[in-house]
Amino acid sequence: MPWVVPSASGTRQMHILLIGAGGHGRAVLETLRDAGWPPPAGVLDDNPASAGLSGIPLLGPLAAAEALRQQGLEAAHVALGDNLRRQALGEWLASLGYALPVIRHPSAVVAGSARIGDGSVLLPRVVVGAAAEVGRHAILNTGCIVEHDSRLEDAVHIAPGAVLGGGVRIGATALVGLGAALKPGVAVGARAVVGVGAAVISDVAPGLCVGGTPAVPLR
Ligand SMILES: CC(C)(COP(=O)(O)OP(=O)(O)OC[C@H]1O[C@@H](n2cnc3c(N)ncnc32)[C@H](O)[C@@H]1OP(=O)(O)O)[C@@H](O)C(=O)NCCC(=O)NCCS
Repeated sequence: MPWVVPSASGTRQMHILLIGAGGHGRAVLETLRDAGWPPPAGVLDDNPASAGLSGIPLLGPLAAAEALRQQGLEAAHVALGDNLRRQALGEWLASLGYALPVIRHPSAVVAGSARIGDGSVLLPRVVVGAAAEVGRHAILNTGCIVEHDSRLEDAVHIAPGAVLGGGVRIGATALVGLGAALKPGVAVGARAVVGVGAAVISDVAPGLCVGGTPAVPLR
C-alpha cells in the first residue's frame, strides 16, 4: 500500500499511523474520515488485549513505529488522552522523522490569525479565536472554545464544552475539564487540572487541581 496519495488539490495526503486504539483513538479516526483523509495505515497499541480500531490494521506495539518509519511511513498521530504520554510519544515520533500533521474536523472554526502546533487534533465544532496560539500535541475536544489571544502550551487537553475567555494562558500538559469556564486573562499552570464544570476566575498554580464555582483547590 502506498503511504502517500495525491489529492484532488495536489497536496499530499498521507496514510497516517495512529498511536492508541482506545476511545480517543476512535474519535480521531472519525475525525480523519470526516475530514477526507485516506484510511490510516494502521494503529499501534501496547495493550495486548486491544481490539484495535474498526477497519484499521492493528500493526503491533508502539515500538513498531521505528520499523514502519524505515518502511516509508511518513506521518503519525498520538491519539492518547494522557497528556504527558502523548507529548513524550509525539516527540519520539518526531525524532524518528515522522510528520505530525494537525488533524482538524471540517466543522472546526479556526481564525486565520490563530496558530496550531504539530500533532494537535481539533474535534467537531471546536472554535479557535483570533491570534490564539496552541502548542504541539494538543487535544481540543468536541465543542470547546479557545477565545482570542489565548496561549496554550504543549500537550494540553481542553475537554468537550470547555470555554476559555480571551487571553487565557494554559501551561504544558494541563487538563481543562468538561464544561469548565475560564475568565478572560486567567493563567492555569503546567500540569494543573481544572475539574468538570469549574468556573475559574483567578490563576491556578502549576500542578494544582481545582473545581467548583468559583473554582477552589480540591487536593
Ligand atoms: C477534579 C477531578 C480531577 C477530581 O478527581 P479525583 O481526584 O478522582 O477526585 P474525587 O472524585 O475523589 O473527588 C475528591 C473530592 O473533590 C470533589 N470533586 C471532584 N470533582 C469535582 C469537580 N469537578 N468540581 C467540584 N468538586 C469536585 C468530590 O466531590 C470530592 O469531594 P469530597 O472529598 O468532599 O467528597 C475530577 O473529578 C474531574 O473533574 N476530572 C476532569 C475529567 C474531564 O473532564 N476529563 C476530560 C474527558 S474528555
